[in-house]
Amino acid sequence: MNIAVVGTGYVGLVTGTCFAEMGNDVICIDIDEKKVKRMQEGEVPIYEPGLDILFERNAKQGRLQFTSCLAEAVADAQIIFLALPTPPDEDGSADLKYILGVAADLSKIIKDYKVIVDKSTVPVGTSEKVRAVLSEGLDEELFDVVANPEFLREGVAVDDFLKPERVVIGTNSERARKIMTQLYRPFVRQGNPIIIMDERSAEMTKYASNSYLAARISFMNEIANLCEKVGANVNMVRKGMGSDSRIGKRFLFPGVGYGGSCFPKDVQALEKTAEKVDYDFKILKTVMQVNRRQKQVLAEKIKAYFGQNLKGKTIAVWGLAFKPNTDDIREAPSLCIIEELLKEGAIVKAFDPEAMENVRTQFDGQVVLAADQYEALISADALAIITEWSVFRTPSFKVMKELLKSPVIFDGRNLYELEMMEEQGFYYESIGRDKVT
Ligand SMILES: NC(=O)c1ccc[n+]([C@@H]2O[C@H](COP(=O)([O-])OP(=O)(O)OC[C@H]3O[C@@H](n4cnc5c(N)ncnc54)[C@H](O)[C@@H]3O)[C@@H](O)[C@H]2O)c1
Repeated sequence: MNIAVVGTGYVGLVTGTCFAEMGNDVICIDIDEKKVKRMQEGEVPIYEPGLDILFERNAKQGRLQFTSCLAEAVADAQIIFLALPTPPDEDGSADLKYILGVAADLSKIIKDYKVIVDKSTVPVGTSEKVRAVLSEGLDEELFDVVANPEFLREGVAVDDFLKPERVVIGTNSERARKIMTQLYRPFVRQGNPIIIMDERSAEMTKYASNSYLAARISFMNEIANLCEKVGANVNMVRKGMGSDSRIGKRFLFPGVGYGGSCFPKDVQALEKTAEKVDYDFKILKTVMQVNRRQKQVLAEKIKAYFGQNLKGKTIAVWGLAFKPNTDDIREAPSLCIIEELLKEGAIVKAFDPEAMENVRTQFDGQVVLAADQYEALISADALAIITEWSVFRTPSFKVMKELLKSPVIFDGRNLYELEMMEEQGFYYESIGRDKVT
């Protein structure tokens, strides 16, 4: 099939590349001309494991192309995916200006039948808005609008896209349903479902999924905080809970709060959707509050240890990305924690395997970026672990002790066993477990 993907970010680029990998002809469009030029020259502008190999192969074989010209890109496309940003607007609702703006542009250039697919995360009713904008310039026979929310996870996005656990397609059009099913069939050969539903339910499915996951994390963060107060070990509690098949093992890890480009804005947007229809969605409000507080927990522990004032103290930070295996720092807990440490007068020396470039422009150059994880420790008064990159899981504790001014670790991801920290002679605070003193 001929496919156009509008918006070449974390979702658009993975979508375009993976469709090309299945043998489709894909043109990706982005408004950012510099980014388009880099991609035309063969450079992958984001870090996403495995993407570079597919990108190179498909670009070389001519199935994956890049342009900044929308009209040129969509001329021959049967399907046009919108993978555009939907950031929060002033009141926290999803801002649809990118989606509706591109829909207005498309209404002026489409000449034959196209399926226009919304892959961005958008509030219930957006497909209808897109249809209304398109209808202003186009005969309704010339297009169908489909809601096809994306569930990929940054860090494993390529795998998620190539082998999705489910594909959700929201449409009432038989013609669009057939085309979409044909497009996705090769991705679900192992039997995972393509679930066809109405547009509104498809749009809601994405928000419901992300909000549920955010609530689950927040629930575990609250359990962890309580464990600390009552002398329980959240790691044990998590294992005990997760063995119940009704609960399941995944997504029960407490930490420093959820971040990223999706959960924070999607929980907020769903709460706004509820507000607009006079529904008081109490759980979501609490989830947001709990998460705001959790993002402060590690900095609070550090401040309490050093007696509030961090002037003259150097804190090493391991991990800046909002989660491992991505360079994405949008809404990352690291940003809140570092901001708080700097506010209290600390010197922050940070290391992240992939996200350093994205942090360079933040904090007015106040954060020292270390060449590797050990360099960050040199003469630091303590280490704060914020992102659970694999490379931090089995470090040389001997070298760490030599480099740190004092052997003090605040671990926001529970990477190490308490017993081992005791044996190694560290002062160690983690989340939802006893301190090792
Ligand atoms: N990042 C994720 O893990 C993820 C997962 C599922 C769903 N989503 C949703 O997918 C959507 C896109 O997210 P993302 O993380 O890929 O965003 P992103 O910010 O990484 O990428 C968006 C891209 O769109 C481009 N763009 C903006 N306006 C444009 C225009 N008028 N024409 C062409 N290109 C334009 C930007 O330059 C950018 O490259 C959002 O709605 C998000 O909620 C994201």
